[in-house]
Amino acid sequence: MATNLTVIVLAAGGGTRMKSKTAKVLHPIGGRSMVGHVLAAVREVEPQRIVAVVGHQREQVAPHIQQLAPEAVLAVQETQDGTGHAVRIAVEAVQREHGEVSGTVVVAYGDTPLLTGASLRAFAEEHEAAQRAVSILSGVVPEPFGYGRILRNHEGDVEAIVEEKDATAVQREIAEINSGILALDAEFLLEALPRIGNDNANGEYYLTDLVRIARDAGLTVGAHLLEDVMQTEGANDRAKLAELGRELNRRILDRWMREGVTIVDPDTTWVDADVVLAPDVTLLPGTQLLGATVVAEDAVVGPDCTLKDCEIGAGAKVVRAHGELAVIGAGANVGPFTYLRPGSRLGARGKLGAFVETKNSVIGEGAKVPHLSYVGDAEIGEGTNIGAGTIFANYDGVQKHRTVVGRHARTGANNTFVAPVRLGDGAGTAGGTVVREDVPPGALAVSGGPQRNLQGWAERRRPGTPQAAAAQAAAAEAAAAETRSTRDDDEAAGTD
Ligand code: UD1
Ligand code: CA
Repeated sequence: MATNLTVIVLAAGGGTRMKSKTAKVLHPIGGRSMVGHVLAAVREVEPQRIVAVVGHQREQVAPHIQQLAPEAVLAVQETQDGTGHAVRIAVEAVQREHGEVSGTVVVAYGDTPLLTGASLRAFAEEHEAAQRAVSILSGVVPEPFGYGRILRNHEGDVEAIVEEKDATAVQREIAEINSGILALDAEFLLEALPRIGNDNANGEYYLTDLVRIARDAGLTVGAHLLEDVMQTEGANDRAKLAELGRELNRRILDRWMREGVTIVDPDTTWVDADVVLAPDVTLLPGTQLLGATVVAEDAVVGPDCTLKDCEIGAGAKVVRAHGELAVIGAGANVGPFTYLRPGSRLGARGKLGAFVETKNSVIGEGAKVPHLSYVGDAEIGEGTNIGAGTIFANYDGVQKHRTVVGRHARTGANNTFVAPVRLGDGAGTAGGTVVREDVPPGALAVSGGPQRNLQGWAERRRPGTPQAAAAQAAAAEAAAAETRSTRDDDEAAGTD
């Protein structure tokens, strides 16, 4: 690749059609912002310098870009006076930061999320090989309305770009459009930028005027036609954002299927751009893998899972689960209907079953929480089994506390662990135990006293209610049965 490349990302525009508090280029698609995708593609090309032009809603856009690409120079365009003006501001910022601009300058837009690094690289390489002053990344689209059109002469050489509003009826028929992505010889750019005027229908400084300026100076201009036009499409409204999002997802799934991932129903499966999947992973219908989720080989995820920033071990099975910032160990079983909140770590071959919620907890290797439980701020040792319907009561209304359960413990159904509390290795608890004090290793905790039955309680304390009536009826029935059996006994004994 070129040894001296500067990429300018334009992201100062308004994006009014989004009708949003959020800046257009920050709208998410495939798990990144639109500009995040563009920056990822740009960084793949490894340019010497990246400059981002921000303006509209820059209090949101600037920090976001700084976080994603700390090496990028930020240039502020106070008023959006056109793409030519934006590039001038970018060039001035590079001159301030790096002293000079030379080599090749590529201009990209912040709202083309499908653009790939490979396309950008091929474009810049072709530009340099052809030694042009200006190269245009062009596309042929069915509906060219709104785009700048590429004007070619009889030899097919590019003469100029004319914007929609400035075009004649005949020019508007041209289907070859300017994607907006340009490659420029820096020396030419520096010399030509001051010569761009704003005498046009929009009263803006059009970067595209550089084509005419280069031609008039007898320099080479060329267009590089990108067959895959969706790579250059921008999302100006939410309908387009959804359309591009679906297409991006289709491309991501396609890539993973070619890498050996089984995706049973691509129509209902969503995988973000930064997700990593191993070969022989199976994704069942209705699965969303978001953020930086990683799935190891032979794992089966789905149906109906949403996992964000999760790590799924080899051979694990996750069914109808919702997880965020959680780790599921190799060979573990999760679901159905399991909620893993941030900081949940399930060990290898462990199990989290139906209606179990976990948070900030480590569940050891082979440990099981099979049914109807809440596990918060806990540590559960390897091989331990937690009884159905157990609550780790971690919150005293003011502070959160931890519960530690040792290895190979067996706890009864319907327990409450009132944190902070510890159960030793091999300890047990009886059903319904409320554990308020530590349980030593190997001990069985029983918190309820012996059961007492207060006879006749319903009739005394709830007279006249259906409860009392039912109790009375049962008592009468029992008395009648007693009488019958006494009589039978008498008859059997032959008494009279
Ligand atoms: C531009 C091109 C047009 C091309 C089209 C492709 C010009 C004059 N026209 O038109 O040939 O077909 O893109 O989508 O270049 N921006 C700034 N500052 C500004 C103006 C724009 O940063 O002052 C940024 C926007 O945020 C956006 C990009 O530049 O990322 C393009 O701006 P936009 O106003 O959408 O240009 P178009 O009129 O669509
Ligand atoms: Ca546009």
